[in-house]
Amino acid sequence: MTEDKLVVLGESGVGKSALINQFVHSYFIEVYDPTIEDVYLKEVKIDDEWHLLNILDTFEYEDYTPMKEIWLNVGEAFLIVYSITSRRSFDKVATIREEVKMMQEYSDYVSIILVGNKCDLENERQISREEGQDLAKTFNCPFFETSAKDRINVDESFFSLAREKKFQ
Ligand code: GTP
Ligand code: MG
Repeated sequence: MTEDKLVVLGESGVGKSALINQFVHSYFIEVYDPTIEDVYLKEVKIDDEWHLLNILDTFEYEDYTPMKEIWLNVGEAFLIVYSITSRRSFDKVATIREEVKMMQEYSDYVSIILVGNKCDLENERQISREEGQDLAKTFNCPFFETSAKDRINVDESFFSLAREKKFQ
């Protein structure tokens, strides 16, 4: 079985932990509880092959944390999350991607997927689907709009992330 080390990044409150918990435990976390650092394991069959997904949930990415370099170093594929209800979280994506790229400078290809979460909150939307798609196009990476609440594109995102790792 291959083990995939996946890291979930993004501004605080965008729904990183909610997405992971929905994926791993099929459970939606309603109450906001800031993450310290958490690792989740899940065995899944992707394209007829068993994978052990080792998913690292991170927190408050903007501030300096000594763990940050470790996250970026150990990660083999990165899920960068923003919330479609927060322009600020979307504006952070480019910086986060730059930092991932810097740490992975020896590999030609950085395995990233971009996710716009909270797509159930259509009436609070600040980022159009097209804007998300266009940004993903400039990164040359897959893109999904997700809802951790309604379990939309959750499996698809993590499966896609594991597939991206293969291309390394
Ligand atoms: P940090 O751990 O601080 O970095 O935040 P986080 O990115 O892990 O966010 P978290 O998963 O804790 O979610 C923050 C809040 O948003 C919680 O109250 C969640 O219930 C809510 N939330 C997360 N995903 C969704 C979603 O898809 N739709 C809706 N409506 N709310 C969501
Ligand atoms: Mg969290």
